[in-house]
Amino acid sequence: MMQAIELLLTASVALICCNSVLGARVRLEADQLLAKHHPDWKQLGLAKPDDDHKLVFALRQSNLIALEEKLLAVSTPGSPQYGQFLSADQVDALVRPSRASLHAVEEWLNGTDVSVSQSCKYTKAHEFLECDVTVSQASQLLQVSFYQHEMDGALALRANNHYTVPAEVADHLDFVGGVHRLPHRQQRLANSTQYAIAKAHGVNLQAEPSSLRELYKVGSSVGAGEENKNIQSVAQFSDEYYHATDLTKFMEKYGTGFTHMSKVAKVIGNNSGEAGLEASLDIEYIMALGANIPTYFWYTGGKHEDQEPFLVWIKAVANSSTIPNVISVSYGDHEDSLSIPYMQRINVEFQKIGARGTSLLFASGDSGAGCFEQHFRPSFPATSPYVTAVGGTTLSSALDSSASTEMGVSFSGGGFSNVFQRAAYQATDVKKFLSTSQNLPNQSCYDKNGRGFPDVSALATGYEIIIDLTPSFAYGTSCAAPTFSGIISLVNDQLINGHGKTALGFLNPFLYAHGFAGLTDMAHGCSQGCGDYNTGFCSTAGWDPVTGLGTPQYPTLLEEALRVKSVR
Ligand SMILES: *[C@@H]1O[C@H](CO)[C@@H](O)[C@H](O)[C@H]1NC(C)=O
Ligand SMILES: *[C@@H]1O[C@H](CO)[C@@H](O)[C@H](O)[C@H]1NC(C)=O
Ligand SMILES: *[C@@H]1O[C@H](CO)[C@@H](O)[C@H](O)[C@H]1NC(C)=O
Ligand SMILES: *[C@@H]1O[C@H](CO)[C@@H](O)[C@H](O)[C@H]1NC(C)=O
Ligand SMILES: *[C@@H]1O[C@H](CO)[C@@H](O)[C@H](O)[C@H]1NC(C)=O
Repeated sequence: MMQAIELLLTASVALICCNSVLGARVRLEADQLLAKHHPDWKQLGLAKPDDDHKLVFALRQSNLIALEEKLLAVSTPGSPQYGQFLSADQVDALVRPSRASLHAVEEWLNGTDVSVSQSCKYTKAHEFLECDVTVSQASQLLQVSFYQHEMDGALALRANNHYTVPAEVADHLDFVGGVHRLPHRQQRLANSTQYAIAKAHGVNLQAEPSSLRELYKVGSSVGAGEENKNIQSVAQFSDEYYHATDLTKFMEKYGTGFTHMSKVAKVIGNNSGEAGLEASLDIEYIMALGANIPTYFWYTGGKHEDQEPFLVWIKAVANSSTIPNVISVSYGDHEDSLSIPYMQRINVEFQKIGARGTSLLFASGDSGAGCFEQHFRPSFPATSPYVTAVGGTTLSSALDSSASTEMGVSFSGGGFSNVFQRAAYQATDVKKFLSTSQNLPNQSCYDKNGRGFPDVSALATGYEIIIDLTPSFAYGTSCAAPTFSGIISLVNDQLINGHGKTALGFLNPFLYAHGFAGLTDMAHGCSQGCGDYNTGFCSTAGWDPVTGLGTPQYPTLLEEALRVKSVR
C-alpha cells in the first residue's frame, strides 16, 4: 500500500516537472474575481466533460497608441480632424492583430483537438476568435475545472480556478472569455404594487415625456423621421425584452404634443420573452426624447446563456460594419469584480466605437459612491474614460413639482475610478472640484487621481412607464441614460439632417470644453457612500462626482454643437 501511494506521488511530481519542461504557462487575468466568489451566483456540481461550451479569444490588437490619438483627434472640437470619423474598415485596418498573433493562437489550438477551421469563427478584423468546444477541451486548453453555476434559474459554466495559457501565446492574447465572468442580477426597480402605493401617498411621478421635454427645453423638437441616417439604440442583456404593445400604449398615452414613432425600427438579436422593466423603460424614453428617430433594440444573450453577454455584444459591435450614432446602455459591474486586462481591452473596443463616430452613454450606477469594506466602489463601464457616464437627479419636492428644483439624487453613481487615471479632458474640472469642495469624504475611501464620473446627469426618479399594458414606475440612473441619450440624438439629427454635418461621436472632449454651456449645473444634493445620505460626495458649482457637468438644456446644447461643428 505504501508503495502505491509513493508511486502516485512520484507520478504527480513527474507531471508537474514535465509541464514545465514542455513550456511555462501564464495567467492572463490573475486579478479576476472567480465565479465561486460572485455574490449572486451559486456554484453547483462539476460540468460534464462533453457539455458544450464557448470560448472567446481576445487577440491583442495593433497600433493602440495611434487609435487613441485618432479617437481624440476626431472627437475634440478645434482639432483639424474633428468630426472626420473612421469607417469600420478603416478601424479594422488600423488595429487588426498581427499575423504573428493569429499564427501563434491558431498553432496552439491546432496542436490540441480543437479545429480552428471547423469549430471557430473570427470577427472580420480577426480581433476576436470564438470557438465551440467541449468542457473537456476547454479544461485542457486552459488548465481549469468547469462547474455549473446558477442564478434565478439561469445556468452558466465557469472555472473554479484561474486559467493559464502557454507562454508562447500569452503576448498575443488580452484575455479568454467564457471562463470567469458572470453577469450581475438586474435590479428590479419597482412594480405595479409599489406604483399603486406611491400614487396613494400622493408621490408626484414627475417624469413623463412632456414634463421631461419641458424640463430640458426640448419642446416639440423631433428628428427627421423614417428616411434617416441618424439612428439611436438601446443595448439590452439578461432577459430584458420589450413588448411592442407596451410601446404603442405608452406613446398613445404620453406621446401627445410631439411627432414620434411608435415602433422600433429594428430588433437585433432576440426579443421574445416577458417584458422587462429596464427594456421597457429604455425603449420608451429614448423614443420619447429622441422622438421621430429610427431606434434599434439590440438584445444580447438569453436566460440559459453560457456566454458573457456584455462581451458577446462588444464582439458583435466590432463585427458590424454600421452601428447607430447613439447607444444607451444601463448595465454595469463593480470595477473590483473585473480584471484589469479585461477592462483595458473593453476600453480599446470603446475607443474603436468612438473613432467610428458613435456616442456610448452608460448609466452611472444606483449605489451613489458605493461601498465595500470602507472603500467606495465604482462601477465599470461608467468609469471607463472612453464613455459618457450619466448620473441621476431628482426634483427637490416630490409632492409639488411646480415649486421644485432639480438636484443630485443620493443614489446617483459617481466618484473616482480605482483603475483608470483622470482623463485629460476633465483634468481642470476635477481638480477644481477637489480643491473647492467643502465636504470631501475621508480620502482613504477613494483615489482622487482616478477618472472622475459621472460626466453628465438627468432626472432619475418617478418615471411613468407602461409594462404589460399597465402603468408602472421606475427610478435609477437607468432612467437618466436613455433620456440624455435621446437628447443627444436630437442634436445629432439637426447636425446631420439640418446642417450636413457629422454626429457628435465620443462626447466627453466636447462636453468638458464647450458642451457644458448647454447643461444646467447642479450644485445641490449629496450621494450615499459607506453609510446613508451624505456619506458620499456632494454636488457643487461646476463638475462634481454626483451630477457631472449637469443636466441638458436642448436649445443651448444644440447651439454649442452647431458652433463647434462650424468652426474650421
Ligand atoms: C490550423 O489549422 C487550420 C486547418 O484546420 C489551417 O487552415 C491553419 O493554417 C492552421 N494554422 C496554423 C497556424 O497552424
Ligand atoms: C462576423 O460577421 C460575419 C458576417 O458578417 C460572420 O460570418 C462571422 O461569423 C462573424 N464572426 C463572429 C465571431 O461572430
Ligand atoms: C412588488 O413590490 C411589493 C412591495 O415592495 C412586494 O411586496 C412584492 O413582492 C413585489 N411584487 C413582485 C411581483 O415583485
Ligand atoms: C432566439 O430565441 C430562440 C428561442 O429561444 C432561439 O431558438 C434562437 O436561436 C434565438 N436567436 C438568436 C439570434 O439568439
Ligand atoms: C479616515 O479613514 C482612516 C481609515 O479607515 C482612519 O484611520 C482615519 O481616522 C479616518 N480619518 C478621519 C478624519 O475620519
